Amino acid sequence: MREGAFGNATGLSCRECGHRSPLGPHYACPECFGPLEVAYAFPAVTREEIEAGPRNIWRYRALLPVPADITESPNTEPGFTRLLRADNLGRELGLHRLWVKDDSTNPTHSFKDRVVACALSAARELGAKVFACPSTGNLANAVAAAGARAGIRTVVLIPSNLEQPKQVNSAVYTEQLVAVNGTYDDVNRLASEIAGEEDGWAFVNVNVRPFYAEGSKTLGYEIAEQLGWRLPDQVVIPVASGSQLTKVDKAFQELISLGLVEAKEYRVYGAQATGCSPVSAAFKQGQPVVRPVKPDTIAKSLAIGNPADGPYVLDVCRRTGGAVEDVTDEEVREGIILLARTEGIFTETAGGTTVGVLRKLVETGQLDPTLETVVINTGMGLKTLDAVAGRVGPAAVIDPSYAAFVATGIA
Ligand SMILES: Cc1ncc(COP(=O)(O)O)c(C=O)c1O
Ligand SMILES: [Zn+2]
Repeated sequence: MREGAFGNATGLSCRECGHRSPLGPHYACPECFGPLEVAYAFPAVTREEIEAGPRNIWRYRALLPVPADITESPNTEPGFTRLLRADNLGRELGLHRLWVKDDSTNPTHSFKDRVVACALSAARELGAKVFACPSTGNLANAVAAAGARAGIRTVVLIPSNLEQPKQVNSAVYTEQLVAVNGTYDDVNRLASEIAGEEDGWAFVNVNVRPFYAEGSKTLGYEIAEQLGWRLPDQVVIPVASGSQLTKVDKAFQELISLGLVEAKEYRVYGAQATGCSPVSAAFKQGQPVVRPVKPDTIAKSLAIGNPADGPYVLDVCRRTGGAVEDVTDEEVREGIILLARTEGIFTETAGGTTVGVLRKLVETGQLDPTLETVVINTGMGLKTLDAVAGRVGPAAVIDPSYAAFVATGIA
């Protein structure tokens, strides 16, 4: 490993017992098998230094486990996506100050490009020969594209029942897309087994997971910077493995401790689809642990029945006074159409889940409509067209005559 391969990261620390491991392709604590997380010794970082950086996640490179020269190696340069004031949606839901962080505009159209860029850096620094992942769809797209650009062999594993566009969006970048007859949790188990058997395979969300996960912090950094270096009061985030939600919270905490934003209280809310809602169920039952479920929902990108970060999501949402909620597939579809019709943003089922949960949180009084709220749109509707194809379409099909047009009543 070269000097500075992981930037200001100093080691890996166990989230359960705090035991420190050296930087490397490790993800489980040798003492207690708890998950590992990157630990840092941050230098003083100023807003001006960040603002002078590139308009992508590398503007925050001092806060990520990547080398100082990260911008010089080929990658997809994700991030710095739009933070849009969502007054129309806010009015519809009765919220005073609402923003949408729109990550559908990333290179492969989901927030996964962020985490994959960090995992790619780790894979490269560790000398991996294969860049791989088990995925619910979006991660496979991001890994396949980033690997192509970096010139490293990619192998991506997905459940075979995934939406066709998500399959094509991977297969176009890689010849080695493997569809597995099973759930995501089966695919994930298979990936862990392969990672244990094969040398030099970097599974982004398995054996380089600590580095991968840090990429989601950039969503939190960007929200704060784009609000003018301050934190929102409330943020609503979709939950599959739960990694993203916990990292947005970590980002807010880091910004406070680095003095880049003023310390304040904020609430973090998690969103799941009812057909795969193990974290929401545990939250509502007051349980500290998450009981695995077998997913059955159109929100396939969120269909992780045994979420690795589930207990940490519960911790964050409880500590900050937020909540975890879930909505039915019908409410997911309504959420997609509502965001499209109010803000002109076409989200995928994960975003439909998040918008649906936002609405439910307001209706049930769990979220304060007078406070400033950010909802994260993590993906793109063109990848899950079937979810709404039966619900929207032409208002009329007519012959090309004015009389026929008038007969529709649209004029
Ligand atoms: C579009 C989209 N949003 C959200 C998530 C959830 O991410 P996490 O596994 O970090 O909870 C995923 C995960 O696959 C996703 O594809
Ligand atoms: Zn431990």
